[in-house]
Amino acid sequence: MADARPTDRPVPSLSPRLAAIAAHVPPGARLADIGTDHAVLPVALARMRHVVAAVAVDLRPGAVALANRMVVRHGVADRVAVRRGDGLAALRDGEADVVVISGLGGSTIVRILAAQPTTLDTVGRLIVAPQSETWRVRRWLMTNGWAIVAEVLLRDGAQDYEIVVTERGDPRAAYRWSGRPSQLRTASLLWLGPVLARAAEAHWQDRWRRAADDREALADRTAASGSTRAIRAAVRHRRWAARTRRAVDAAEGAAERATEGSQSRSPTAPTGLRTAGDRAAVRS
Ligand SMILES: C[S@@+](CC[C@H](N)C(=O)[O-])C[C@H]1O[C@@H](n2cnc3c(N)ncnc32)[C@H](O)[C@@H]1O
Repeated sequence: MADARPTDRPVPSLSPRLAAIAAHVPPGARLADIGTDHAVLPVALARMRHVVAAVAVDLRPGAVALANRMVVRHGVADRVAVRRGDGLAALRDGEADVVVISGLGGSTIVRILAAQPTTLDTVGRLIVAPQSETWRVRRWLMTNGWAIVAEVLLRDGAQDYEIVVTERGDPRAAYRWSGRPSQLRTASLLWLGPVLARAAEAHWQDRWRRAADDREALADRTAASGSTRAIRAAVRHRRWAARTRRAVDAAEGAAERATEGSQSRSPTAPTGLRTAGDRAAVRS
């Protein structure tokens, strides 16, 4: 059977997590996907002609071989270059205007970003989706001039994933808003996500309340050993859990007040509705 022509070849399917990242890549971008593994994201975006060019970078020879096969199979070798390399070092200056680093740990992402600061000079949008320790990446972004413009929290399989979309700008802007409760200090927002905390959606609240419960359980297990060191660690875990619960409660209250405020300003809003329960009752 003859090979399918490049334009007939299927677009690789994206997981919900990769699809959410793809949704934040502007059309016409020159994309770099660092830690690409099998290069599904750049290949899909190139195949859809959403990006004009992409560089898919991975450290492991096995991943590079997989990525190369993917590029050929989907007929995008003219638009996607696959390179073996460590982080941004594999890019040429000015080659990419959008960088995605997803599925790596927060510390690794910070190391990658900090190692090659000038490569980022021509990058207008940086999208990070750490597997863990997103707070470390938010802290780096804040001290390096990257402003958070969007955040996504989504569940893919059994796991929650955060996606942080950033552009050059005032890195503190996302952390300031009128009506921000005092419990939502910057240190807490680095963990909770400033944009996510402001929206305080139910899924986000559940995620952090569950994290607080898990931390309390860890404190109990840690304290059980009875050593002074373990007891101190357990105290730290309990403080973290309490601080997190207070912050989530405060964010929930602030988001409700903001919704009520915007409804009472709306000329069509029914009067006399005070709580989310009242509103739900009216809807049902
Ligand atoms: C779990 S995969 C993530 C794949 C894809 N980005 C995603 O989000 O589904 C992480 C990939 O990052 C690669 N990686 C780890 N450290 C790297 C580095 N310093 N530079 C480039 N790639 C790296 C690994 O080899 C691995 O293929």
